[in-house]
Amino acid sequence: MFQSKIAGLGYYVPKNVYTNNDLTRFMETSDEWIQERTGIKERRYADRIGETTTTMAVEAAKIAIERANTTAEEIDFVVFATLSPDYYFPGCGVLLQREMGMKEIGALDIRNQCSGFVYALSVADQFIKTGMYKNILVVGSEKHSFALDFSTRGRAVSVIFGDGAGAIVLQPTTEAGKGILSTHLHSDGADAEKLAMYYPGASGGIWTENPPTWPNQELGGMLMTPEMLEDGTAFPVMDGQAVFKKAVVKFPEVIGEALSKNDLKTEDIDMLIPHQANLRISQFIQKTLGLSDDKVFNNIQKYGNTTAASVPIALCEAWEQGKIKDGDLVCLAAFGAGFTWGSALIRW
Ligand code: UT7
Repeated sequence: MFQSKIAGLGYYVPKNVYTNNDLTRFMETSDEWIQERTGIKERRYADRIGETTTTMAVEAAKIAIERANTTAEEIDFVVFATLSPDYYFPGCGVLLQREMGMKEIGALDIRNQCSGFVYALSVADQFIKTGMYKNILVVGSEKHSFALDFSTRGRAVSVIFGDGAGAIVLQPTTEAGKGILSTHLHSDGADAEKLAMYYPGASGGIWTENPPTWPNQELGGMLMTPEMLEDGTAFPVMDGQAVFKKAVVKFPEVIGEALSKNDLKTEDIDMLIPHQANLRISQFIQKTLGLSDDKVFNNIQKYGNTTAASVPIALCEAWEQGKIKDGDLVCLAAFGAGFTWGSALIRW
């Protein structure tokens, strides 16, 4: 029986920096409001044309693959997490496979938003443990900026999110007690519509009465109509307070679940990498668990919430800064739209 180990990791963020003050050019907001409520100072936005969720993922993947001392041709499976794919279909997995000149390997797309990377890691971990694959690329990448409402109407959502990508290469190890110790995944769809982007979608969504007549009246679902852009329903919606309240409960719960599964205690954690949703959420988790500042990594100040990319970007930055060392107990945890949440415990 193998365990999975992270053999290489990398991240990429676009060069375009937008500070909170920059956003005041487009909407009524302030540096003070954004910092006080979220901790965010600035975020990155991809180039509007040319730079995509896939191209950013490729940049992060190149670094992870090189650090794992392997090559794109040797990757035998791809798991790609994103909520902002280049196309509605096919998913970004195949686009990355093509861009990186990989063999005709399996490419799986994961749609679990902020928990996407933890879900992707868990799936990859199972394939390594069973011996089915030996060199899996796991990616989280987001180009949120393509679908944010940068007017005052959308400010409660748009100031939070940023673009970027993170990647890891997962390989088997037989070193006892090393690598991924366990992963834990959960969902509760009761609040699915509290953090969502409804369109394009087949449900008819909010249009239970008098649906728009475009694109094709009698037949056809709800692609995207000019009215939806006009009235804002085309953009993501978020009940921020509902998300916040649930997140601060589920984060500690799923971290506790991972610890107890491995007969470990909170004080055994050397580094907690929480999904970067909001600095106040991270601080709340830290307080609940009683962890010291040096045991919780946050970089939301620089990048905002990059959803599926946030955990691998933070993990990679913490590692690059020497904050994760051989033998350390690292805990990844995430919560987001769905709602979905999860954790992974890793002995580095
Ligand atoms: O990864 C998971 C993704 N999402 C999350 O984790 C989100 C979790 N929730 C949050 O982070 C917080 O709920 C937010 C940061 C989104 C919002 O903070 P809040 O303290 O819950 O504020 P609020 O939505 O209750 O809004 C308070 C006020 C409102 O004005 P009124 O009605 O009190 O006059 C908003 O219109 O702040 C206003 N507001 C803003 N003002 C300036 C909302 N967005 C902005 C803004 N700039 N960007």
